[in-house]
Amino acid sequence: MAAKSKPAVKRAAKRKSPAPVARKTPAKIVKKKVASNRLTVNRTLAAIDAMHAENQFWNQPMWQGLIKGTLPLPMVKEFCRQHGIIPLHNHNYHGRLYVICPDPKWRAMIAEVVYEEGTGRIYANGKPHNELYFEFAEGLGISREDLLATRYCSGAIAFKSFFSAMCGKNFLEGVSAHMLAGEAQGPGYFSSIAKHLKKNFGLTDQHVAFWTVHDVADEDHSGIGRKLLEEFAKTEDDLKTVLRVVRETIDVMNLLTEDTWRFMQAAA
Ligand SMILES: [Fe+2]
Repeated sequence: MAAKSKPAVKRAAKRKSPAPVARKTPAKIVKKKVASNRLTVNRTLAAIDAMHAENQFWNQPMWQGLIKGTLPLPMVKEFCRQHGIIPLHNHNYHGRLYVICPDPKWRAMIAEVVYEEGTGRIYANGKPHNELYFEFAEGLGISREDLLATRYCSGAIAFKSFFSAMCGKNFLEGVSAHMLAGEAQGPGYFSSIAKHLKKNFGLTDQHVAFWTVHDVADEDHSGIGRKLLEEFAKTEDDLKTVLRVVRETIDVMNLLTEDTWRFMQAAA
């Protein structure tokens, strides 16, 4: 190794004993770190998007089979019976949300949803959504009486209990469960389900209207997450609550799907 020249030695010496610099105290560093991890509306919405992306409901065997049209009729019939826990019981969900909504402007919006569910006069040519669902069942050869006599799987019963309770608990939690977790899962896939129902089992446009209507109707509700959080999630704790509710709702919906799939396989 070559000997260092004098200026090089000086530079090295300088490097060994650097001039004191102003350092941040640990307290300042911690404070900055906490501030940067603060939950904001943007971060909450991004975390919700990440939960849906990670969950990939469309890749679950039941939804995959419906979206791609690969399931035999007995399995689709059982799906129809179990999934009825949502549209045939909707007044327990949207209805409660309307009652507990504290804001007149938002209450009017929820009222529209309740009105549409109960009458179909906004999107569904005057057919209530439960009626659309009965017609879907009839297209598969299930009578109304038969559909109403469904023995629900425990996942469906758990879903109804959870969702009814959430929708009647308080507006922030109810609306988060409904619009940020539940309704965000459907749009974009229902038309494909309708197409295969027509092609594989001879259902008519009227039979599959339940699915085509919801590809449009639900899309309108699920795009309002930002407004919702800005108006009702006033604190960081509120945003944490929203994330917890969305997580729990996705989990319960997965339970419904898994248990429905179990009944569908038994029916095959
Ligand atoms: Fe509906």
